[in-house]
Amino acid sequence: MAASDRFLLAGVMGWPISQSRSPMMHNYWFAKHGLAGSYVPLAIEPERLRDALRALPSLNFAGCNLTIPHKQEAFKIVHEVDDVAKKIGAISCVMVRPDGSLSGTNNDYYGFIENILEFVPDWRADAGPVAVMGAGGGSRAVVYGLLLRGAKDIRLVNRTHARAVTLAQELGGPITVLPWEQRHDALDGAAMLVNATSQGMVGQAALDLRLDKLSKTALVADIIYIPRETPLIASARERGNRTVTGLGMLLHQGRPAWKAWFGIEPKVTAELRELIEKTL
Ligand SMILES: NC(=O)c1ccc[n+]([C@@H]2O[C@H](COP(=O)([O-])OP(=O)(O)OC[C@H]3O[C@@H](n4cnc5c(N)ncnc54)[C@H](OP(=O)(O)O)[C@@H]3O)[C@@H](O)[C@H]2O)c1
Repeated sequence: MAASDRFLLAGVMGWPISQSRSPMMHNYWFAKHGLAGSYVPLAIEPERLRDALRALPSLNFAGCNLTIPHKQEAFKIVHEVDDVAKKIGAISCVMVRPDGSLSGTNNDYYGFIENILEFVPDWRADAGPVAVMGAGGGSRAVVYGLLLRGAKDIRLVNRTHARAVTLAQELGGPITVLPWEQRHDALDGAAMLVNATSQGMVGQAALDLRLDKLSKTALVADIIYIPRETPLIASARERGNRTVTGLGMLLHQGRPAWKAWFGIEPKVTAELRELIEKTL
């Protein structure tokens, strides 16, 4: 096949997948760059993940993203995993290499950091203590990103204490694990608060967290993007804190994926953000 005949292909594998906003984002970029290509939602049952991933080279896919529930299982399937994905414990992006083998990485931490920097360009992870709520997959990416950016004091709080302890042990660094009961006090003196729990997501209760001890100068971020603004972000904004919502984390993690798949680093534009926000 001549290079000019090449129709660029990538997608996202999940189960379910219809809720994913990734196809809209990536297809916006194909149109923006005037490229012939498509990014498709791939509904892949867990037991079919191996077959699906191994079929990517034959189908001429450049790679794919992975979402729930495939991010861990993929470790057993791809041929090589980089240190970032190993540390975070999840593969979010798979690349098909020229020899047809598959490599895995994780771009979620990058998305988290770039989203913060888009809204607060002078943000520094070492500006003061960072309180992180949650110790699931999203939190691992957040904490990895904070550590990479030089955070010196991370206060990690999770409903299931042992999960936070494991995260702290596996990622290492200046992380203090506090009991869930102390979450309100963990905000005292914090320069930043991050919600990485699923609380506040559509269909879930709001995060049960009192903000009275949080300084008005603290930055408050949520990684949830459905709804567009969680109750936590709304309360923080109303009391005068600067806030960053979760959509940009999804948008920015797509950039390094494109770079790896197609050699182009696309832009997260206001137009793209609005396009997706309209659907949330
Ligand atoms: N913006 C993005 O690109 C992006 C990326 C990743 C994730 N996310 C979002 O982040 C959220 C978390 O995702 P995840 O993958 O980290 O999920 P996960 O691995 O299932 O972790 C869920 C987290 O929420 C906590 N949690 C659940 N129910 C709770 C409750 N009733 N009270 C207190 N804590 C509770 C869990 O605590 P336990 O350990 O005690 O169960 C855990 O810390 C989701 O809404 C997801 O959509 C967004």
